[in-house]
Amino acid sequence: MLRTIFGALLCTALTVSQGKADINLATMHSIRSNLDRRVSPCSNFWAFACGNWSSNYVDNFQLAEQRYANAMIAVLTSNRLRDAPRLFKQLQDYFTACVGHPEEQMQLPPELLSGEAFEWTRATARLRKYGLNGVFFDEMADVAYNDSLSYVVQLKMPVADNNHSPMRPETRLLERDLRILREKYGNEEPMLQLWMLSKLNKEIPQIEWEVYFQELLEREPGQLLVQISDVEYFRKLGELLRQSSNTAVESYLSERLAQFVKEAKPDSTLQSCIHHMSAVLPLGMNYIYDRYVYRTRSEDMRQLQQLFDSLRGTFAKYLEHNRLELSHEQLSYLHAKLAGMQLKLGNLPNLTSADYGFYNDHYASANFSAGSFAQSFWQALRLRTRLQHLPLGQPGATLQLKYYYVNDDLVRARNAPYFEHERNTLTVPLVFMQWPFYDHRQHPIFRHSLMGFILGHELSHAFEQEGILFDAAGNEALLGVRIRQKAKFQAALNCAQHSPTASLKERLADFNGLQLAYDTFFGLAHDSQRFEYRPYDFEQEFLAPQIFHLNFAQFFCGRLPTAINHDMDDVRVNEAELNLHQFSIDFSCTRHQFDSIGCEMWRAATHE
Ligand SMILES: *[C@@H]1O[C@H](CO)[C@@H](O)[C@H](O)[C@H]1NC(C)=O
Ligand SMILES: *[C@@H]1O[C@H](CO)[C@@H](O)[C@H](O)[C@H]1NC(C)=O
Ligand SMILES: *[C@@H]1O[C@H](CO)[C@@H](O)[C@H](O)[C@H]1NC(C)=O
Ligand SMILES: *[C@@H]1O[C@H](CO)[C@@H](O)[C@H](O)[C@H]1NC(C)=O
Ligand SMILES: [Zn+2]
Repeated sequence: MLRTIFGALLCTALTVSQGKADINLATMHSIRSNLDRRVSPCSNFWAFACGNWSSNYVDNFQLAEQRYANAMIAVLTSNRLRDAPRLFKQLQDYFTACVGHPEEQMQLPPELLSGEAFEWTRATARLRKYGLNGVFFDEMADVAYNDSLSYVVQLKMPVADNNHSPMRPETRLLERDLRILREKYGNEEPMLQLWMLSKLNKEIPQIEWEVYFQELLEREPGQLLVQISDVEYFRKLGELLRQSSNTAVESYLSERLAQFVKEAKPDSTLQSCIHHMSAVLPLGMNYIYDRYVYRTRSEDMRQLQQLFDSLRGTFAKYLEHNRLELSHEQLSYLHAKLAGMQLKLGNLPNLTSADYGFYNDHYASANFSAGSFAQSFWQALRLRTRLQHLPLGQPGATLQLKYYYVNDDLVRARNAPYFEHERNTLTVPLVFMQWPFYDHRQHPIFRHSLMGFILGHELSHAFEQEGILFDAAGNEALLGVRIRQKAKFQAALNCAQHSPTASLKERLADFNGLQLAYDTFFGLAHDSQRFEYRPYDFEQEFLAPQIFHLNFAQFFCGRLPTAINHDMDDVRVNEAELNLHQFSIDFSCTRHQFDSIGCEMWRAATHE
């Protein structure tokens, strides 16, 4: 559901003291010390921009997370009276349990150990209550594809869990059979069905749905609305599990549970407990950070909103050019989507600061214990699933925008901005709002080349081949399909695949995001061939466009870990610059060294 920019490692040295140091000089100093001047910017820009990171290496995400954690530790260990005292006490208890019991065995909740005869649907539902999802299928309380304000149960085929290696012969066999099913019935864009539970029972009688939902929701499921894809997979899954021995299925589930606990459980350092809590108790943790730590919200938000609005303004100009030769109706669809897009700073409900009662009562049903981490851990996961499913039981099951925040099945908190198609909303996590990612005192060129690129990347996700299907209100719409079918849209997709990519939509978001940020800062009509950009007073060597490219690229410096769902960072930087026609002009590259590919999807191509 979420599109996130990535979680890779970065470079850039130097910590700017929050005091008087000139932040622009400091940023330039850091940029310069990461360069490897033996490499030509025209032959491998990433290697030029990041080549010397190793002597100065700092992982910026780690740095930002550390600062976030230290600030939260200070708040959670102080005894000052806080508003929302119950919430505060619960988080304190959880934190105490987490850091205080490093050797504690992660005993299972009594409910999971009941001695009754094993039955796979009930067992799967019970584990789902405690956070284990995606073993045989994925289950989520989410919104309908054609009505982004209506809650439904979503059922899907799971993705493979590559971290799980079955240990017993019978679990290995089951794992193999499940993989065969996934490969046989998997579909890149599966058909979605919206069925009442009664219809689901009829269509897929191989699975005891009533038992599953009764156990999961702890009530009569009644008139549940279910959105399901991969129907044939579910039928065959039901058959497979019926034929398998209970021992095999039970062993398989317990191996997956052990794997889940291993991944979700923090080590008991103060910092990893904070990160763990940010993932499993996001509402409380974000509230506390926002209320007691974060000091520059209003200035940051003013700047971010301005940046976001100017990016949208540039994109609106791309649309006016109508490169894809869209109809009036199709263009209106895109303009409405752009105009309706929201920016959120922090994953919090849209409430006023006086509204702490909502926060205070939020975790009321959880029984955390300062004396037992295992108990608190299972309580937190049980609570999360309960909160996710709560709206399904409300009349109409309608999403309340005012109270909405992201509370999904993560075990690691998001630290980079993300876009939600169903909400048409871009969220910037508060942990990201720190130097070197962001500082409101920085010169606009730094903010535009880093945050501008990132917001531009996320905004562009709304217009790639998957995002385009969602309209301004977050509903999948036929108009989006029609736009995607346009020959020029398809040609831009092909163009972007001139070299292999791990994710086409991420590449499109990079291409358009960098182009958008660049055009927004320098103006659409700029002509870097004729216009000599003056140096700034804090920088005598590099010209403005060069600083722009360097600061963008250095967001991606690092050790090149294998990226998941994204290309490697060097490929991302070099490909995005290769697409940007102005790059070769800004660094005076010859055609021979650097031949821009120009895969614009929305913007008028430079050569047109
Ligand atoms: C790399 O950084 C170090 C320390 O900042 C500096 O002394 C050195 O000259 C740099 N090397 C290159 C190739 O730029
Ligand atoms: C969504 O689609 C279902 C059929 O798949 C239909 O019954 C329902 O009315 C649609 N809802 C809206 C809001 O269009
Ligand atoms: C928050 O609520 C206000 C009105 O109470 C509304 O104007 C604003 O658009 C909402 N913001 C978001 C991000 O939903
Ligand atoms: C909460 O946990 C404590 C400690 O384990 C236990 O004594 C108490 O009965 C629990 N309360 C509820 C309401 O579950
Ligand atoms: Zn992305």
